[in-house]
Amino acid sequence: MSIEELFGLEGRVALVVGASSGLGAECARALAAAGADVAIAARRKERLQALAGELRELGVRAHAVAADASDDAAMQAAIDEVEAELGPIWTLVNSAGLSRLGRAIKHAREKWDQVIAVNLTAAFVMSQQVARKMIERGEPGRIVHISSVLGRGASPIHPQIGYAASKGGVDNLTRQLAIEWASQGITVNAIAPGYFPTELTVDPEAGAMDAEFSAAVERLTPLGRPGDPAEIRTTLLYLTAPASSYVTGSIVPVDGGWTAW
Ligand SMILES: NC(=O)c1ccc[n+]([C@@H]2O[C@H](COP(=O)([O-])OP(=O)(O)OC[C@H]3O[C@@H](n4cnc5c(N)ncnc54)[C@H](OP(=O)(O)O)[C@@H]3O)[C@@H](O)[C@H]2O)c1
Repeated sequence: MSIEELFGLEGRVALVVGASSGLGAECARALAAAGADVAIAARRKERLQALAGELRELGVRAHAVAADASDDAAMQAAIDEVEAELGPIWTLVNSAGLSRLGRAIKHAREKWDQVIAVNLTAAFVMSQQVARKMIERGEPGRIVHISSVLGRGASPIHPQIGYAASKGGVDNLTRQLAIEWASQGITVNAIAPGYFPTELTVDPEAGAMDAEFSAAVERLTPLGRPGDPAEIRTTLLYLTAPASSYVTGSIVPVDGGWTAW
């Protein structure tokens, strides 16, 4: 088989939720580079429109939808709009996420609810809404969640109880959906990133991860550095490839060796 037959996504449609920045934007770029028509969703429309323009330059169709991932009705409408514009969704990538720092003993319920709503509940609801369509059509598909190394272990750097709990939830969401939808040919996998400089981790005033944080990441990561967001692309393409039809329920670290200690 050629590389195109193994990894090519020409004629297929991908939807990336949380694509207005960071790892989600990199996932959208990777999918477009593999030939997919790509829909991108998040709340910041201008960012999405700029990225859609960039993706079209790769010769694919791109469609931007501004929507809040924690609003079930808005996301259902977004899915319907994407399918009407681009066609049936082959791949859903759930990359929307946020973190709220704060020691567990004082962690506000509001912070917990915000993080669980976007990182975990929205990933489930989006998967359910997209999978229902795949199942109605009798077609296989690919769902990829962007989890975290904090899905399988606590953070030695920051107090972030809601985030760690949400990512533990995403890991087991991945496994449960994988077994429930296996018979329909819908694979469900997750990528567990280590630390990457994105809006989630970079101090906006300094334009970089703060020095103490950066030093901890370098010390705790065997490769001795944070990842470059573009380094998520190959794993995403592996998990969304038509030929990866026997890979499901897996959580693939892209973490510079963080989980290898
Ligand atoms: N960076 C890291 O070191 C790291 C490590 C492990 C895991 N991750 C995971 O990777 C994923 C992407 O994070 P990132 O690092 O790329 O951070 P980021 O640059 O802050 O991206 C987060 C994305 O989520 C979107 N988002 C947040 N709340 C949303 C909502 N309510 N509705 C729709 N979209 C929403 C944001 O878009 P809008 O603000 O425009 O809505 C943005 O596109 C997250 O799930 C994160 O937990 C990141």
